[in-house]
Amino acid sequence: MPKQVELTLLIGDQSAERVDVAVVPYVMDGADAVLASGMVRSMGDFEFPERLVAEAIAPERFAGKRGDRLVLRQEPGSTTVIAVGIGSNDASWADWATTIATVVRDNAKRVVRIAIPGSATAVEASAVGVLLGSYSFSKRRDEAQESGDVGLIMLDDSHALSVAEEALVRGRAIADAVSQARDLVNEPPSTMTPTILAAALAAQLEGARGVEVEIWDKAKIEHERLGGLLGVSRGSSQDPRLLIATYRPEAATDETPHVVLVGKGVTFDSGGLSLKTAAGMTTMKTDMTGAAVVVSALGALDALGVRVKVTAIAPMTENMVNGSATKPGDVLVARNGLRMEVLNTDAEGRLILADALCLAEEMAPSTIVDIATLTGAASVALGREIGAVLARPRSLATQLIEAGAQSAEALWELPLWEDYESHIDSEIADMKNIGSAGEAGTISAALFLGRFVRETNWAHLDIAGPGRSEKSAGLVTKGGTAFGLLTLLRYLRTLS
Ligand code: BES
Ligand code: MN
Ligand code: ZN
Repeated sequence: MPKQVELTLLIGDQSAERVDVAVVPYVMDGADAVLASGMVRSMGDFEFPERLVAEAIAPERFAGKRGDRLVLRQEPGSTTVIAVGIGSNDASWADWATTIATVVRDNAKRVVRIAIPGSATAVEASAVGVLLGSYSFSKRRDEAQESGDVGLIMLDDSHALSVAEEALVRGRAIADAVSQARDLVNEPPSTMTPTILAAALAAQLEGARGVEVEIWDKAKIEHERLGGLLGVSRGSSQDPRLLIATYRPEAATDETPHVVLVGKGVTFDSGGLSLKTAAGMTTMKTDMTGAAVVVSALGALDALGVRVKVTAIAPMTENMVNGSATKPGDVLVARNGLRMEVLNTDAEGRLILADALCLAEEMAPSTIVDIATLTGAASVALGREIGAVLARPRSLATQLIEAGAQSAEALWELPLWEDYESHIDSEIADMKNIGSAGEAGTISAALFLGRFVRETNWAHLDIAGPGRSEKSAGLVTKGGTAFGLLTLLRYLRTLS
């Protein structure tokens, strides 16, 4: 796979090389902005101003606020120097990552040097910003393209250097996981079938320290009575798969907390017999984002020093139409024996997640988090930039919202409103797979899933909105975003 961008840590003054753009970070200090590059004070003959006084630069109104830009020098034949605002004085991981991603995207294919302080947070986040800001789908990367060259310039201090090098390794692991997940999501659906996706995910994890992978084929899925997954896959000529991957930290004992992540892996969602519209189908290769996210995340855990045990479960299938397809009115029996009346074959995600959640609960973990492009209603409620989180207990939702805020992914809580349980009551089975038309579709879908998690702390992330983006901005790129991966990594690190 060709490198999308060259990223290096550079120590001290780099005035000897050719540099197109020097990026100098500033943070807010009252109305003014102060230099945030740590000990890097100049590049070549250009001394970075210590303080940009608001009054003196009023026309541009540069205050060091996140997203602020000010050209400090632009002359033919010399390096262009740009001041960028990172944010408030205690600039966070999310501030650094999004700002650097934007600057790098705006200066793609150029030789860019960024002066950054030596803190672990700034280095790790900047590395993620550089790598995700220059992400493009690998199929496009293959066409011999000129790629950018970005260096992070740090101070000349050996202690800070080792801290920075470790932070860079973590940043690369995070960005690799997200890039790998995005590559899988962006692949056309006929070349990312359940079989291919399972193999690609397993290949991604090959050699990952502490990780074991198991793939269930159709016979095994039948043997294990995953009636929801089988029912959805029946209308397709492609067989389903289920992948289980487990990460065991080095010092794991029986007391080590265990988190199970479950991700929806519908490699193409036509809606089945309850067929989607032509327009509604155009982006439905994205419907396996949850699976890509949970499994790709596992590959980064060792590099991040995560000390909890983590299992990823990904049920994978197409949702298609043929003579054997599940029909509206059919009843499917989930692994735990609960009977699910299928009144709309396009509400397929919950049917396959039901089985996966049964498997998760059987492992008696401390916490289960599932992630799914589950309901169009979630993007009606929260738009295309915010994911929905519903959890029992609610404190788990709060933890995930906080983890999201720290990693530049916005989540907002919706209630698991008990009175709405009646919306999914069925006349002939234990539940039906649609709620009341036009009412709280994200909540009734979550309540459906909740019936398969009786004992365990559980959160559900509905990323139907932010799973895809129509534009590139900050860490997000147009197309599949792998939304939620950064949040899950942050959450798991916080538990360690
Ligand atoms: N995969 C879709 C949800 C979706 C829609 C994701 C748009 C991303 C963008 C899901 O399987 C689905 O079709 N849900 C239905 C449920 C309904 C039939 C109860 C929906 O949201 O319309
Ligand atoms: Mn659907
Ligand atoms: Zn779907």
